[in-house]
Amino acid sequence: MPGTCVIGLQWGDEAKGKLVDLLAPQFDLVVRYQGGANAGHTVVAGNETYKLHHIPSGILHSQVQNLITPGVVINPSTMIDELDALEKRGIACGSNLRISERAHLVMPWHIVEDRLLNKQHVGNESIGTTLRGIGPCYRDKVGRTHAIRVADLVNGGRDERIRAVAEQKIAILRGLGGSDEELAQLEPSVVAERAAAWAERLRPMIGDTTYLLLDAAEANQQILYEGAQGALLDIDHGTYPFVTSSNSSGVGVCAGAGVPPRWIDEVIGVCKAYSTRVGGGPFPTELEDATGERIRKLGNEYGTTTGRPRRCGWFDAVAVRYTARLSGVTRLALMMMDVLSHLDEIKVCVAYDLDGERIEQLPTHVDALRRCRPIYETIPGWNEPVDDARRVDEFPAGAIDYVRRIEALVGVPVGILSVGPDRAQTIFVDSPVAEAPLR
Ligand code: GDP
Ligand code: IMO
Ligand code: MG
Repeated sequence: MPGTCVIGLQWGDEAKGKLVDLLAPQFDLVVRYQGGANAGHTVVAGNETYKLHHIPSGILHSQVQNLITPGVVINPSTMIDELDALEKRGIACGSNLRISERAHLVMPWHIVEDRLLNKQHVGNESIGTTLRGIGPCYRDKVGRTHAIRVADLVNGGRDERIRAVAEQKIAILRGLGGSDEELAQLEPSVVAERAAAWAERLRPMIGDTTYLLLDAAEANQQILYEGAQGALLDIDHGTYPFVTSSNSSGVGVCAGAGVPPRWIDEVIGVCKAYSTRVGGGPFPTELEDATGERIRKLGNEYGTTTGRPRRCGWFDAVAVRYTARLSGVTRLALMMMDVLSHLDEIKVCVAYDLDGERIEQLPTHVDALRRCRPIYETIPGWNEPVDDARRVDEFPAGAIDYVRRIEALVGVPVGILSVGPDRAQTIFVDSPVAEAPLR
């Protein structure tokens, strides 16, 4: 069976990019299927660091076919910048990269709209988006009347379509408080000229990825699906409304990629050994103290896309157990184990106290989640670096105990441990660390 998924189980930035790059040589195809340039996936290869936003993290391996499938939203301008930057660094993006005609385009008006609406609060907090136009683009996709797809970029009638949409967008955005200066950039003639250049540059890569993917699956080729964001940011199943606008948990793979569930047989759930979140929204285990600051420093927890400091906190087993089940996770990849090596004691949230009652499920409503107080188990720190460990038996006993505890609490065996950003700083666990996972 050919399909493996890499899914973030927290609020994004779990180090999916590192893992996808590492696993890619075992696969024929790497597939991005949702999200857009809100993603920032870091790949460290020797002395080189690559920050990928649209382009799948298999791109460093020239024999791997990389697909951007219908569920992704593409900003053609930043996509071209990304391509150019990679090519300048000697990474070819030609026949090894295919973009679906069905994918939607993040147009310049979506960026303006994201900026204007991001000022608005939901309740008493702003969503704090990445300002990449993601929500507005997905909104237009679902609304249909103002959407522009990759297919529209390379087919006849492009300028007419842009004109019709741009004129209405300018009126709508003026109503939302858009300035004359930014609205001038949305004039149909300005956008049409840019679109012509985008089409010329991207045309050779554009095609029907759906048939390509189905052919590959039916020919038993090995396919790796690269999730973006994390399952707690899933539009339907995450901490709504403080989420992204796509299905970023495991349930989104089939719809976004265009592949039936029967072709997926393994789901790797990626999580940090602690938690982080960027932007607004509830975060029960957040540490707004010196320990949180310490984790941010040790883990270099600053956004790959926006540079914003990430909010840091303890591992939340209630949340990850939920997202692992939702995503059908078969193996956990526990990342950033090196960061915890420097702490005297480590806490894991095993349940919440909600209005005096102990609960072990993630509440649906954001207000209830805000009232949840984490119930912690405290585990002694191992105070010994693990970044040079290459086998589990090189781990200090305390670190192994921590991994065992996470496995038991989440109910899925850990198959991969990461002890640093480098490819070599990864341990593949042959047999589950725990003797018997809970489920
Ligand atoms: P993604 O969005 O899930 O691909 O994750 P990001 O790339 O946004 O953030 C993960 C960050 O952690 C990147 O800077 C990685 O280079 C780095 N990283 C990956 N694995 C490890 C690890 O095990 N330890 C440490 N200290 N850093 C890691
Ligand atoms: P990767 O793929 C972390 C967060 C934003 C914001 C919310 C909505 O690198 O893990 P959006 O711009 O999508 O409308 O923002 O989602 N967010 C991410 N946080 N990693 C990401 O991607 C994210 N993509 C979106 O910070 O809270
Ligand atoms: Mg990221």
